[in-house]
Amino acid sequence: MAEVIFDADERLWLLSTATTSYALRLDASDAPRHVYWGPTLTLAQAATVRTPVLSKISSVDSLTDEELPVEGGSRFDAPSLQVRFADRVAAFEWKYVDYTVDGGHLAIRFTDRHYPLEVVLHYWVGAGTDVIERWTTLRHTGSDDPITLLRCDSASWFLPLRADYEVSHTVGGWSSEFRLQHTPIPVGETTFTSRRGTSSHQANPWLMVTSGDEVWSGALAWSGSYRITVRRTPQGQTSFTGGFGHEGLTWRLNPGEAWETPVFAGLYAADGADAASRRWHAYVLNHVLPHSDETRTIVYNSWEATEFDVSERNQKMLAARAAALGCELFVMDDGWFGARTHDAAGLGDWTVNRDRFPGGLDPLIAEVHRLGMRFGLWVEPEMVNPDSDLYRQHPDWVMHMPNRTRTTMRNQLVLNFGRTDVAEWAHKWLDQLVGQHEIDFLKWDMNRSFSEAGWPAESDPDRLWIDHVRHVYAIIDRLRADHPQLRIEACSGGGGRIDLGMLARTDQAWVSDNTDALDRIHIQHGYSRIYPARTLSAWVTDSPNQLTGRTIPLAFRFHVAMAGVLGIGGNLLNWTEQELAEATSLLAQYKSVRHIVQHGVQYDLTAGPVTAVQYVLGNETVVLAYRPAVNFGLPQVPLRLKALDPAASYTTGSSTHSGAVLMHHGLEPALPLGDYASTMIHLTQVA
Ligand code: DGJ
Repeated sequence: MAEVIFDADERLWLLSTATTSYALRLDASDAPRHVYWGPTLTLAQAATVRTPVLSKISSVDSLTDEELPVEGGSRFDAPSLQVRFADRVAAFEWKYVDYTVDGGHLAIRFTDRHYPLEVVLHYWVGAGTDVIERWTTLRHTGSDDPITLLRCDSASWFLPLRADYEVSHTVGGWSSEFRLQHTPIPVGETTFTSRRGTSSHQANPWLMVTSGDEVWSGALAWSGSYRITVRRTPQGQTSFTGGFGHEGLTWRLNPGEAWETPVFAGLYAADGADAASRRWHAYVLNHVLPHSDETRTIVYNSWEATEFDVSERNQKMLAARAAALGCELFVMDDGWFGARTHDAAGLGDWTVNRDRFPGGLDPLIAEVHRLGMRFGLWVEPEMVNPDSDLYRQHPDWVMHMPNRTRTTMRNQLVLNFGRTDVAEWAHKWLDQLVGQHEIDFLKWDMNRSFSEAGWPAESDPDRLWIDHVRHVYAIIDRLRADHPQLRIEACSGGGGRIDLGMLARTDQAWVSDNTDALDRIHIQHGYSRIYPARTLSAWVTDSPNQLTGRTIPLAFRFHVAMAGVLGIGGNLLNWTEQELAEATSLLAQYKSVRHIVQHGVQYDLTAGPVTAVQYVLGNETVVLAYRPAVNFGLPQVPLRLKALDPAASYTTGSSTHSGAVLMHHGLEPALPLGDYASTMIHLTQVA
């Protein structure tokens, strides 16, 4: 049960989630000190917990177990909150003021002992989840000089002492996102960060710290630059702190001004990393995503088929093929507007290209709707090509610094959405685009990192890093509120900006431009450590794959893309009749199981040379199994299914199996001989 209780004598708060407890207390100096994070404890039990740091604190120890470590005193580790007052005094001295509890929301208020700075630590626990949300608000309560913020993390999570810890997280790059890594945590400070203005392809903003089967995990709800620092002292104390921004940025807090960090959510699980993933999935589905009860539709996206060479004719031809296959949503990608016939011109000029669409967008939209599909459109609102009317009119709208080169990437510059006028402009054209045409879906792309992130007219220019993201959020939120039918796919050159912040306001995510099915197995596995299949957009594209040159059979490509929100991205005009027939059948198979994939509970079944994933929903389960390479003579390990009723029988329609045997002995998937063997097995409990 989610609740917050307070022991006034002990000055201790206990937060309870479905199966875990979290406790903190005020020490004699009023500093908020971490007490406990693990399986459920009562308040009386929590009051007896003495952490090694708390019991042996001395003048030479470092206060790593503060709920939000500050600078100053006997603190020598990376601070979570770092401020400078106008007289150049550093540090914050805690003075407790009061606390409030509102449902599952605990807010504990402090002020500095001398300076006019208020700090509120926020905690939230909710029904049916072990995830605890934490964030911090600051307020300048004075009327004189501003306060400078050097680091303002959302939360610091302190772990109990264990002999060894490992950290799991994902790394990557464009088209190689979400590569899962497991590394022992060294003594020192290990920082996972993005300085790119997006949460990035390179390091997604989450981590899992494990010791045996115990998992302490954190995920940041922020889509811009961020920093998560794992601290491990020589004495073994371990914590991680995270928040928005990266080192070197400073922000100004003016008198009267408030500052709110994003949520840095934390999760404890006693039963291993795969179970922790399932808890994250449930949290994202129940507490983060909009419309998570909806089943996502099968998209056809024209990008790989036509790239910039779009026309009303070729899009209509593709739409006809897509509809015949059973697709439900047709998305026209880049190249439909301005002079955007290649990637060096037209970005920013959001009027339809009349050479390509003489009658505007409506004839194509009408045709797509007539074919029974919804219509979606690609946009990249935060960007501009220097060769565009927008840039010629407003060269000062981009992030830039005087005396510095305006570095282009993919021939584009980043619009400064920190500016209210630029954000208003973007909202206006998007609102008109969606309002004046029957657009059901937007793919919101963002194809480069920030550089020369300056704002010459602004006296506090580093707020651009925060305000840009906040304004992106605000535009999406406003569009959604005004156009309730609109669904949005998050994209940033593939998976460069997928995080809890984006997923709170989008419906699915394009996780990678890499559509090679073999690479995708690994990308999707890394993605699924935190984010659920219901958000994972995956297309079947042409073979050989345009990125890797690899040839993979159609069924394998389908089975991999079925482990998420299946879509089609190949050039259907080149597919043979046989391929189209096979694709139609596979697509229909996906429709019969997608409710289980998208709304079920996911288990990793990988055994030996076979990679497999299982989803369970009610009395149905589906297994997708892949064996990329055949190795004669290697043991064929049966797949041991999870979460079935051992007393029940399950049928595929043609064979019946005992639940106990499926779980304890396992199922040998009937994989054909040869490389790239794959299968989908759908089992239903026999009544
Ligand atoms: C990057 C995206 O990830 C692709 O799917 C495609 O939309 C291109 N941008 C279009 O420029």
